[in-house]
Amino acid sequence: MPADDRNKVTILKLRRQKRNKTPTVLTTAYDYPQATIADSADVDAILVGDSLGMTTMGYKSTIPVTMDDMIRSAEAVSRGAKKAFLIGDMPYMSYQISNEEAVRNAGRFVQAGMDCVKVEGAMVERIKAIADSGIMVMSHLGLTPHTRAKLGGYRVQGKTAKQAEIILEQAKSLQDAGCTFLLLEGMPRESAEMITNELQIPVYGIGAGDKVDGQLVIFHDLMGLFWEFKSKFVKRYCEAGQIMKEALKQYATEVRTGVFPSEENFYAIKEEELERLLGGGNWKVERVVYENDQGFPTNHCATPQTVTKKKNN
Ligand code: KIV
Repeated sequence: MPADDRNKVTILKLRRQKRNKTPTVLTTAYDYPQATIADSADVDAILVGDSLGMTTMGYKSTIPVTMDDMIRSAEAVSRGAKKAFLIGDMPYMSYQISNEEAVRNAGRFVQAGMDCVKVEGAMVERIKAIADSGIMVMSHLGLTPHTRAKLGGYRVQGKTAKQAEIILEQAKSLQDAGCTFLLLEGMPRESAEMITNELQIPVYGIGAGDKVDGQLVIFHDLMGLFWEFKSKFVKRYCEAGQIMKEALKQYATEVRTGVFPSEENFYAIKEEELERLLGGGNWKVERVVYENDQGFPTNHCATPQTVTKKKNN
């Protein structure tokens, strides 16, 4: 095993965490810096979610996201995350058409560095085909965005005993078909708890209460980088968008007032080289001398005349 794989989170650790009742921490990432941040914060697993359609591409839903969008993102995330268990989210119409297409597309995620793929809905046949090909699959039940129209919109699922029992039966069939994990989205905690306790595989939740084996929150939701809406289950841990906006406003002010760039941002050129460069033409060296200079070298810039400037404060 390569040295950098030694701390890698594997299926064995995730199963152990379920057995020991240690909550598993999942978030999403869509690019290299997000993956690097999530990995260095020691999250257990990163989902390269097709939510990137909304968080990153500005679509109104995940439906327009393509396999190529997902693979480009998965490759970047796998370059940034050295330890976390990586899950690639199969986008709309990448698994529905046939077992063959589902397996081929799942294989593309593995080639892009993913440890597992995620498939929405009770797609028992597809899950079996992907699992039989040797690829780990996370099934996703409850509020499934790919079939939101059929659900009557983005609505909480499993709110009645009957609904919860149907989801439990689907979950058991998926487990029997070979899925390695289950993700429950948008469900009352009691329904999710009942399903979690009935299954042997790790069951994670996003908006499914605190009795599942782990929590998933979308990176942009917890960081304050998504503003279109905020679901009830989301907790914001910082307002990164606000911090970034303030930083950009400060940058703009500094550029407009000449504060940035300044001495520490300039590349040096040797004086004799500068004289050689400028000596032949009309351009001469402008020396800006700061009287309150704290020991910075003299600032040079090219102007049509030689000028010595003095600054008093
Ligand atoms: O794409 C995604 O981030 C997801 C979660 C909402 C579960 O599928």
